[in-house]
Amino acid sequence: MPKMTFIEKDGSERTVDAPNGLSLMEISHKHGIDIEGACGGCLACATCHVVVDPAWFGKLDEKKEEEEDMLDLAFDLKKTSRLGCQILMSDDLDGITVALPGAKAPWDK
Ligand code: FES
Repeated sequence: MPKMTFIEKDGSERTVDAPNGLSLMEISHKHGIDIEGACGGCLACATCHVVVDPAWFGKLDEKKEEEEDMLDLAFDLKKTSRLGCQILMSDDLDGITVALPGAKAPWDK
C-alpha cells in the first residue's frame, strides 16, 4: 500500500497508509489529521488546502481553473499550494509529502 507524509502544524511528521484512489483530504480524515474539507471535496471551500513538497509538485496533474479560484481564498497560500480533495492517491505518488497551512515545512527555509 502506498504511503504519504503529512507535516502537521507543530512541524511533526506523520507517515500514514494512503490507499490508491482516495484523495489526500480523505486520507487525512482516516488518520485524524487536522484538515477540514468542509465541502466534502466538491471544490466549494478551501479548507482542504495543503502545501505540497516542491519535489513532488511537478508530479501532480494540472490544477483545474475552479481549484485555482478556490485556492485564492486559502490561508497561507504558497507556490506549491493545492486543494487536498483534488489530489488522488496513486502508485506514482507513493511517498508524497504535504504540509498543513501554517506548518513550518523542511523545504521552507
Ligand atoms: Fe472543499 Fe476540497 S474539501 S474544496
